[in-house]
Amino acid sequence: MDQSVPLAADASLSRRQLLNFLTGATVATALTASLYPVGQFLVPPGEDTGADGSVVARDRFGTPIPASRILQEPPGTRALVAGLAGEPTYLVVKEDRTLDTMGIVNNCTHLGCTFPWNPLDQQFQCPCHGSLYAPDGTVVRGPAPLPLKLVHVAVANDLILISPWRETDPRTGMKPWWV
Ligand code: FES
Repeated sequence: MDQSVPLAADASLSRRQLLNFLTGATVATALTASLYPVGQFLVPPGEDTGADGSVVARDRFGTPIPASRILQEPPGTRALVAGLAGEPTYLVVKEDRTLDTMGIVNNCTHLGCTFPWNPLDQQFQCPCHGSLYAPDGTVVRGPAPLPLKLVHVAVANDLILISPWRETDPRTGMKPWWV
């Protein structure tokens, strides 16, 4: 009996199966790789929140920043920390070497760019489309349509606690736009 045909068919089938397996594995690997960055954003930040929704201010590596370290900086310093939901947040060192209880979220109300503090002009200056903000986050020049978001800042045991600002916005006398 000639068994060459079945053997050839078996060999062909095996190659097909192997190709199918490799193709499937490649697609699965590509999908996993492409979804990983999305998944990262879907995972909530691992942060402990207090009863008032407060979080501990952290540096870019996720390490809590002692208040004493920031308070070594000269008065007027705007120190950038990771705050609520990891939002970059400016803390202000006051003349009496304490932290201002009002923090300013570094997220332009025009299209969401982050921006530096310009100590010479005493302004937050957005590099994207030129919006300017006063030290308290009030708009000096658009296109930003709204003042910058505020947060509460407190210190306990040298930890900096940042909590949501839900009360009246003292700059406008109105309910905050972000609440
Ligand atoms: S995002 Fe800041 S001015 Fe446009």
